Amino acid sequence: LAAPAVARAEGKFPSRPVTMQVPFAAGGPTDVMARILAQELSAVLGQPVPVENIGGAGGILGTQRTARAAPDGYTIGLGHMGTHAANPSFYKQLPYDPVESFTSLGLFAINPMVLAIWPGMGKSLAELRDWIGRNEGKLTLATAGTGSVSYLGALLFDRAMNAKATLVPYRGAGPALQDTMNGVTQAIVDQAVTVIPQAKGGSLRALMVTVGERLPQLPDVPTSVEAGLPSFDIAVWNAAFVPRGTPEPIARTLTEAINTVLENATVKSRFGDMAIQIPPPEQRGPEPLRALMAREIPRWKQLTREAGVTPE
Ligand code: MLT
Repeated sequence: LAAPAVARAEGKFPSRPVTMQVPFAAGGPTDVMARILAQELSAVLGQPVPVENIGGAGGILGTQRTARAAPDGYTIGLGHMGTHAANPSFYKQLPYDPVESFTSLGLFAINPMVLAIWPGMGKSLAELRDWIGRNEGKLTLATAGTGSVSYLGALLFDRAMNAKATLVPYRGAGPALQDTMNGVTQAIVDQAVTVIPQAKGGSLRALMVTVGERLPQLPDVPTSVEAGLPSFDIAVWNAAFVPRGTPEPIARTLTEAINTVLENATVKSRFGDMAIQIPPPEQRGPEPLRALMAREIPRWKQLTREAGVTPE
């Protein structure tokens, strides 16, 4: 990859490893995508790209860590619709500003979500509905903490089903999935990335997808519209950021490197296998991401207000 002239003139960036911070535990969607991106990014940048997991508090701890890192391009933070759009609606005192604390690098993935249950709970959505009817308020839904996307998915599902479920927080969707596979919690709404392999392997049962079309990887799983729950409608955008103050040529080098990675055949095929949609070029880069956040933050304010959420 040819580095932009300005970056070259300032000294070879990067001249040492570039850390990719994941604000959730290992084994969740962000971590899975980070590891694929990091491997290819390392080849493009010519430096190691280690992944660092900083889970907890719905992604706030790790996102705050990225915001406070040195603005020199050596720390990239991954975030998503939860950390960078919905969180301001859930927390009165968020320790970062999703817009002001960061320089946007760009969107890298849009993912459907899937409702999945511990297989011991039953075989179909009808059985689950029945169970909920017989056990009012007893369903447990594992999440990655208040404001995370699995939490948003769980809220929408709970409202659509009127389940009055208990939302159980974990440090990321990785451990949340693990406990659902073990029957410690009964259900989860997670990005398809992580549900697909578990559903195929039989450790989870996928019951419904949250977007308009069935997924080729889970052809027997109905959409929420088919299941009569059209309000259970959510697709998750995932994006990369650096701390605000990062020199523009360095941020541009990283944006260009990410764009190169998203065109890579291995990344396309690995993402494709997990139903991860790569945004088209015109939706990538800092400008479209800033515009997306400017739309998404008020949208989540309104959705959470309608859902009666009071910020913690
Ligand atoms: C994760 O990577 O653990 C998830 O994206 C967390 C979440 O549900 O937001």
